[in-house]
Amino acid sequence: MKSSRRSFLKAGLALPALGAAPVVAQTAAVKDSSFDPWVEIHPGNLRHNVRAISRRVGSRPILAVIKNNGYGMGVANAARLLEPAAEIYGFAVVKLHEAVTLRDAGVRKPILLMGPFDEKSLEEAVRRDITPMVYTPIGDLLDRLSAKFRRAIPIHVCVDTGLGRVGVPHLEAAALIRDLTGRRSARIAGAMMTFAEDPEFDREQLKRFEALCGGLEKEGVSLGRKHAASSFGLFQHPGAFLDMARPGMAIYGIYSEKEFRHAGVMDLRPALSLKARVIYTKKLRRGESAGYNRAYVAKDDVWVATLPVGHADGWPRQAAKGARVRIGGKLYPVIASVSASHTIVEIGAAAEAQIGDVVTLFDWREGSRPEDVAAACGGSVYDLTMHLNPLLPKKFALTHT
Ligand SMILES: Cc1ncc(COP(=O)(O)O)c(C=O)c1O
Repeated sequence: MKSSRRSFLKAGLALPALGAAPVVAQTAAVKDSSFDPWVEIHPGNLRHNVRAISRRVGSRPILAVIKNNGYGMGVANAARLLEPAAEIYGFAVVKLHEAVTLRDAGVRKPILLMGPFDEKSLEEAVRRDITPMVYTPIGDLLDRLSAKFRRAIPIHVCVDTGLGRVGVPHLEAAALIRDLTGRRSARIAGAMMTFAEDPEFDREQLKRFEALCGGLEKEGVSLGRKHAASSFGLFQHPGAFLDMARPGMAIYGIYSEKEFRHAGVMDLRPALSLKARVIYTKKLRRGESAGYNRAYVAKDDVWVATLPVGHADGWPRQAAKGARVRIGGKLYPVIASVSASHTIVEIGAAAEAQIGDVVTLFDWREGSRPEDVAAACGGSVYDLTMHLNPLLPKKFALTHT
């Protein structure tokens, strides 16, 4: 279970809202060279995933994690598409600039900033109605800002129940929370923790969190919405859905662990694809090579196609170790080596692809899903999606898939 999770490796205009995605077969292209790689977004699949998650969590609200370039989709694209869905409570990001981008894009729902901030950044966050995740004794700072803005500042308190990353240690959390709740400057709108994703230890973490929250609530402390379940929790910890779910990867329709894919718990459909067009084809004769260091030598005469996509775009170097890409209805192996801007694929003894053909590096179909590519690379779907170059053009597929 643990091998895959983290082990390797301009928004278009007039976005269709999730609540009302058109069914016409059409792709709204952005202005761009037709050969450059692009990310295609499938709003219909996004909507499907939100509904599937909502059913799974018994209609609890969903705090959609759209950090790190919206998992490849673009943070503003993800928010604009998700915001109209009633199931979506709000959004979580890690960088202040992403939160500000969302407000600039007109996003109105709550935004939780799960990343760090200094005093100036916190002031900016409060001004933009962005909720900070708090785990240090910043009561005095909150007092100052509250006086300046003349209102209580909503916060979510992050408790470290064992992940050891950020969060007030669970045994010290009651004191911090009592201090914050005793001030008029702060309003605790949420309390949160993150699992280590070790099924046995997770149970202990949940116990610690529940003990803390239960104790405080008995004292009359209001903790707002309690939340813990990321995508892993959706599959593994139905007892930890609490007041709100906090998934990222599942929203984009990708199984975060390969064991989840065929578990029958949720039907997820990838909501983003990576595509490019063939820029060149040629026949290699037996013994001829391709790629730096002659990484590939043709055993027989074979046709190869060159794609204008490489690791600078976020397409992993490891793809040359067994990933396959889709051209037409068929999958073709990536060969040689993936360089910064190029990938080479075998296209058969006779040329089965032409210059200009659309190539799908990953999409929602069996065999070319992100999970398939990540497995072929010996890596993680997180690396595949979050490493996509944010500057890749985005197109919106308006068909139901
Ligand atoms: C604190 C926190 N919550 C939720 C998530 C969402 O995780 P996932 O994409 O696995 O659902 C993340 C992402 O890693 C996170 O850091």
